[in-house]
Amino acid sequence: MSNRMWGGRFASGPAEIMADINASIDFDKRLATQDIRGSKAHAAMLGQTGILSAEDVEAIVAGLDRVAGEIESGEFAFSRELEDIHMNVESRLRDLIGPAAGRLHTARSRNDQVATDMKLWMRDAIDGIDAQLADLMQALAEKALAHADAVMPGFTHLQSAQPVTFGHHLLAYVEMIRRDRGRFKCARRRLNECPLGSAALAGTSFPIDRHATAEALGFTRPTANSLDAVSDRDFVLETLAACSIAAMHLSRFAEEIVLWTTPQFAFVKLSDAFTTGSSIMPQKRNPDAAELVRGKTGRIFGALQGLLVVLKGLPLAYGKDMQEDKEGAFDAIHTLSLCLAATAGMVRDMEPDRDTMRRWAGAGYATATDLADWLVRVLGLPFRDAHHVTGRIVGLASAKDVGLEELSLAEMQEVEPRITPAVFDVLGVEASVRSRTSHGGTAPDNVAAQARAWLDRLGKE
Ligand code: ARG
Repeated sequence: MSNRMWGGRFASGPAEIMADINASIDFDKRLATQDIRGSKAHAAMLGQTGILSAEDVEAIVAGLDRVAGEIESGEFAFSRELEDIHMNVESRLRDLIGPAAGRLHTARSRNDQVATDMKLWMRDAIDGIDAQLADLMQALAEKALAHADAVMPGFTHLQSAQPVTFGHHLLAYVEMIRRDRGRFKCARRRLNECPLGSAALAGTSFPIDRHATAEALGFTRPTANSLDAVSDRDFVLETLAACSIAAMHLSRFAEEIVLWTTPQFAFVKLSDAFTTGSSIMPQKRNPDAAELVRGKTGRIFGALQGLLVVLKGLPLAYGKDMQEDKEGAFDAIHTLSLCLAATAGMVRDMEPDRDTMRRWAGAGYATATDLADWLVRVLGLPFRDAHHVTGRIVGLASAKDVGLEELSLAEMQEVEPRITPAVFDVLGVEASVRSRTSHGGTAPDNVAAQARAWLDRLGKE
């Protein structure tokens, strides 16, 4: 039997394999709410413009509400023969209200319908992700405030560089997430133009009011070009790019959690709630959640990469290839949401080991820059010379296998005779972080003020 939605010029039905390759209902049924919302707005507009009678519109809207109810309660029978959510809904509407259902598709196509559905879905998805990003910022800022003065090693090249504070380190991620939220916000703003009424590709000869449907669905305006409207999936790409960058940030943090929770680093502890054991090694406490946040990043990048490849060779306008935008996008949003929840949970759960972090903060001559700065400030050496002198003093300490502050004044004076006992004031890690008062620096007072400012801002959102 040929397809009852579009089978007019077909003599027989599709090959069996078509149900598998062509049908999208298994994954696009999650667009049901958006699809019905779009159809109701479209029907109302067809009524307002006199294209449909008031009775037809009433029957259609009531019927769509019933369909929505059936889907919500789980009694709706999705059919793969009907390919996708659009035709499943319309077909059921015809069962319920008869021929008036066939008038709903006046002046539209599945091409503008699916683009509209995806935009509606993406908007909600972005709002959900944004709320989770804000929650993660909150968790980080709270923890940062509690440990604004906890000294830890700061690394470059993963080598001890200069001491920083744990709060400062956490607030670095707050800044990244602030930019992530900006990216989602921009993507949302740009996608918020309504494709509905672009019809298949060329627009329609019916006197529709696209401004009315755009407004009814909460879009800023209708899209300006019908060919673009049905072909555009860069709103999906842009959202996936924002997801990818956010996931990359989460993955870097997850990697740090993995490192920090090793017995070798032992900078932070995760409670039993966020660790798992080994089935053979009784001593193990594995940071599985952090590893999975790191690992799941791959699927999110994959969704972005996959869709870029799908779209890159497509001539205008719609092509069925575009149906491939959905599974990756749904999965990426779901995955990012999971990762955000797990990360916020770990942040709230983690307890830094302040003593261990402090002990390691000075390791590897991490206050050498403070010594060089002192030579510049107090003795008036050019920084390059101070760098050289400090290098020699570090070499001396390293040869003796002691820290900088464990050298005697006489030993330092062998390298630079004008050094005074006051130098010892700058060699400790607390003094080092306290001195970093420049805008954005790691001084504990700076960090606490930043954390408070963030908490204040987030509280007002
Ligand atoms: N299921 C399709 C998709 O997701 C809907 C649009 C189909 N349009 C068409 N002319 N076959 O892209």
